[in-house]
Amino acid sequence: VHGVAGGFQTRDLVEILNSTNKKALVLYGSQTGTSEDYAHKYARELQSKFSIPTLCGDLSEFDFDNLNDIPEQVEGFTFITFFMATYGEGEPTDNAVEFIEFLKNDAEDLSNLKYTVFGLGNSTYEFYNQMGKTTNKRFSELGAQLVGTFGEGDDGQATMDEDFLAWKDSLFDTIKKDLHLEEHEVVYQPGLKVKENTALTTSSPNVSVGEPNKAYVLREDENLLQYGPFDHTHPYIAPISSSRELCSETSERNCIHLEFDLSNTNLRYSTGDHLAVWPSNANEHVESFLKVFNLTDKRSSVFDIEFLDPTVTVHFPFPTTYEAVVRHHLEISGPISRQTLKQFIPYAPDQSTKQEVIRLSESKDVFHNEVTAKYYNLADLLFKVSKETPWNVPFNFLIETMPNLQHRYYSISSSSLSEKQTIHITAMIEAFTPTGSDHIVTGVTTNLLWNIQLNQDKSTVKAPVSYDLNGPRNLFSPYKLPVHIRRSTFKLPSNPALPVIMIGPGTGVAPFRGFIRERCQQVDNGTPNIGQSILYYGCRNSEQDFLYRDEWPTYSKKLGDKFKMYTAFSRENSHKVYVQHRLLENSREFIELMDQGAFIYVCGDAGKMAKDVNKAIVEILIKEKGLSEEDATESIREFKTSNRYQEDVW
Ligand code: 2AM
Repeated sequence: VHGVAGGFQTRDLVEILNSTNKKALVLYGSQTGTSEDYAHKYARELQSKFSIPTLCGDLSEFDFDNLNDIPEQVEGFTFITFFMATYGEGEPTDNAVEFIEFLKNDAEDLSNLKYTVFGLGNSTYEFYNQMGKTTNKRFSELGAQLVGTFGEGDDGQATMDEDFLAWKDSLFDTIKKDLHLEEHEVVYQPGLKVKENTALTTSSPNVSVGEPNKAYVLREDENLLQYGPFDHTHPYIAPISSSRELCSETSERNCIHLEFDLSNTNLRYSTGDHLAVWPSNANEHVESFLKVFNLTDKRSSVFDIEFLDPTVTVHFPFPTTYEAVVRHHLEISGPISRQTLKQFIPYAPDQSTKQEVIRLSESKDVFHNEVTAKYYNLADLLFKVSKETPWNVPFNFLIETMPNLQHRYYSISSSSLSEKQTIHITAMIEAFTPTGSDHIVTGVTTNLLWNIQLNQDKSTVKAPVSYDLNGPRNLFSPYKLPVHIRRSTFKLPSNPALPVIMIGPGTGVAPFRGFIRERCQQVDNGTPNIGQSILYYGCRNSEQDFLYRDEWPTYSKKLGDKFKMYTAFSRENSHKVYVQHRLLENSREFIELMDQGAFIYVCGDAGKMAKDVNKAIVEILIKEKGLSEEDATESIREFKTSNRYQEDVW
């Protein structure tokens, strides 16, 4: 939550470093907040371990033309660290676009600088850590000197934390040697102060009780609230006009369809975009978090925030209450990292608890087996370790240490041509009990959506966790959620006559429902000559989790022989049948459509499915076109670069 280096009057780094008296710089390119979070934790450790005052900031907030002057003009300056996330197919995060442009086209001599880079990526994607690599390559080409090594963290192998720790430990060894810096025991140096204000209550004006941002607390500008612009800092609080369950009663799983009403706004989307939903935490998680940190009794007390370090800000509006922050703004139920746990050691309520936290956080394997594999969240783990004794942890430490509650993205399953003012999404509910565990693990947003659907349907079914649906100042009540739209490049060909082949098992079918509805609407609009639409869909069982089962025949009726659907039911036979098996069965047709200029789309699981489908298509090209494996792989790469093979995978 440790904020952005926002609020400066200038974009000039030399000026900012001098006016804040900082001697190291940490800059991040971040899309969903992970990279930002690592950057802040790292900056804080650099600062407390080596006593280097460190500025940590968002790449988009600065100019870089005088980068090379920093060491000369900022006395005692040490080095720059970049945390660079790679987004999608090797692209920069939105906030790093200009910086990368600068590096590629405008940067000149950087030989005065010392730098290091940690790239955050996902090796299941082809252009793994491209942004980290580009940053490192350009700095070194332009003469800057690398401190330590270039680090890479891999989300695909779920080793991000350990990759980071290994890189950081070796970097810190190098710093000690090369920069002759001394290491101290890490102590928390507060960047902000929590100041309770008993004169204010939750009903005082200007006190935030969980609103997404200040504009919603003040409610001054109706236009801004209703007409935006809406983006990742300012959502529209959208009414949920209807919802329904998509799985049958006999299914073990639940998947829901929700419709958001945009009719009172100018918010618009286009088919294939993503909807970001801003969640709040479940009651059960809020209660255990408040309890473990002894905050239950003062949950509604109002506090203000005073910044001790001018470069620190927070991402939530204040004055506010403990409960509002915990419920609406902190990521409290997610997995914990080993380094986060380590930071709690000084606050252990007694010696034996302290020893146990040290034991759990010291070794990578112990931590993996006893914490990660058991899916503990922070409150549950701390309580288990302390045998239910509460922990006295300053709230400013929690604000600065816990990640922000992130919004979650869903592929939109409606078509902007047929549903101009309504957005549909399709969400599979995440809830499972890990093997050998005594507690159920639940996805924050999907269970919130499920609660809304059950409530809206007056269902007697109980979800594993509950939510406060009559949220702050009725902003979220009874069926409303803050949302914004993320534009995507996952789009139908602009020429409607071109054939499309869509591969989307499970909820991967969501954007394709949108595509098909778009083509149905084109028929209604009298668009001549609409191309073939082929859909490959897979689920476990034709009776249980066949999403939108009753809708597909309607689309067939409308599109006639221009729509064909192949289904793969994986759990109806003794052997697995997946979408890629169906693709291979229809390889001839696949090639014929490709020769007619077909676009291919894959949506769903990135880890295995998208790769297996890729392999199946290589196989088809080998079989039907007589290509070598190399040429087939290369030809798929070309399809991808020319946007004729698009993926929306997670
Ligand atoms: P399974 O769960 O029975 O293995 C949607 O989740 C569908 O995708 C399910 O039928 C699921 O099958 C299937 N699926 C799982 N792994 C897959 C893979 N590697 N490729 C394609 N489909 C897969």
